[in-house]
Amino acid sequence: MNPPAVPLRKRVAILISGRGSNMSALIEAARQPGYPAQIVGVISNRADAEGLKTAQNLGLSTTVHSLKDYPDKTATDEAITRTLESWDVDMVCLAGFMRILSAEFTLAWQGRLMNIHPSLLPKFKGTDTHRRAIEAGEKTHGCTVHFVVPELDAGPVIAQSSVPVLPGDTPETLAQRVLSAEHRLYPQALKQVLAHADTGELQLAG
Ligand code: GRF
Repeated sequence: MNPPAVPLRKRVAILISGRGSNMSALIEAARQPGYPAQIVGVISNRADAEGLKTAQNLGLSTTVHSLKDYPDKTATDEAITRTLESWDVDMVCLAGFMRILSAEFTLAWQGRLMNIHPSLLPKFKGTDTHRRAIEAGEKTHGCTVHFVVPELDAGPVIAQSSVPVLPGDTPETLAQRVLSAEHRLYPQALKQVLAHADTGELQLAG
């Protein structure tokens, strides 16, 4: 008798610029039996990104594609695409990737390119979200996983997670609370997207 068919796990690459704690959360999730993704490689735009060492220590393929190594952004993003294609990637997760990708790149990977953003989009697009949320008197803040489109932080929302803004919060204490939520949300959101990748039945939030 043939053994039961094992569902193929989708091939996922992660793009980082720094610490890589969301990257680590995705790698950890992908090590669990039954998780629908395998992490096949990590790309950074900075050679000194702390997360690169973490990924290498876990035996993952890593590559650096920095703007300064190429004539322009288009050429840099083409190099990223070549690496992704060489890894036969199904889905790309931006995890603290702090460079705006070219419209050509985002359009080429549309529907296969996700990002995690530290606010409840559409509130607080861009950077410095925790300080801005406190200054705006928000009682609730959080994080969003969304598909990436050429316009910054504007793509369809996949999933969100809320946290309270507490009296006395600083941007740092609030960032820590949001980051813990990010580490839970991103693996769940990726799983949700991949579960529906072949059926096209994903219901997007928002
Ligand atoms: C996270 O807060 C993420 O939402 C934002 O940048 C930060 C990256 O942190 N885009 P890490 O590198 O995943 O630790």
